[in-house]
Amino acid sequence: MKPKPLIAGNWKMYKTGPQASELASRLKSLVSDFTEVDIMIAPPFTALGVVAEILKGSPIDIGAQDIFWETEGPYTGEISAPMLKAAGCSYVIIGHSERRQYFGETNQSVNRKIKAAVGAGLVPVVCVGESESERESGQTFSVVQKQLEEGLKGFSAGDLRAVVIAYEPVWAIGTGRTATREQAQEVHSFMRNRIRAACGNSVANALRILYGGSVKPENIAGLMAMEDINGALVGGASLDAESFAAIIRNAIEGL
Ligand code: PGA
Repeated sequence: MKPKPLIAGNWKMYKTGPQASELASRLKSLVSDFTEVDIMIAPPFTALGVVAEILKGSPIDIGAQDIFWETEGPYTGEISAPMLKAAGCSYVIIGHSERRQYFGETNQSVNRKIKAAVGAGLVPVVCVGESESERESGQTFSVVQKQLEEGLKGFSAGDLRAVVIAYEPVWAIGTGRTATREQAQEVHSFMRNRIRAACGNSVANALRILYGGSVKPENIAGLMAMEDINGALVGGASLDAESFAAIIRNAIEGL
């Protein structure tokens, strides 16, 4: 049986508190009846509190866009797992390609952050994916394999039950160029088989692997119909309540 899909919205560095509260309220009214998939939104840190308040009692879960691995201490500007939990988060996005590209995130820092998240009972959404030049030079599988191996180093099969993976080809993020569903399926299946080899069938079969990169209402159903695609991590199209709701609706139709 396939795992229950997750449709997640990454708001990135968009939405002030008041804008976030408007978007969250609208979304709540549009998607509260959808129970076939899990739904998560990841507002910026400054809007977590207000969004959590609005979404209380709704089926929409809240995630953060990053985390620091220490619990507390003199780390100016950083946010810890207990802080995220207290702010109402149950998920955290880790290792997004924008963090790898602009903020020095490495597979090693990703590994420490996943440990902190899992240790605190937050579900990490671990992002992996190749750049355009890596794909063109035939390195897609070796790149995602290394990101997975180093990012998940030291985790037991049990720990992996609490992890979500997001395959986000860098060339498809924010570009309007979605990977074809065949391209995505090929990488998802590769990753699931790596996890199968390391952790066995039951962990691999239960693992949620999301696709991310220019997901829209028009392409989600086709992606969701693929064997190893268990949801989506949506950027730009999650900033509009109607389009995110349409993605969720069409995702359910594609199941
Ligand atoms: P996009 O972003 O949907 O705007 O391409 C996806 C992501 O970065 O998670």
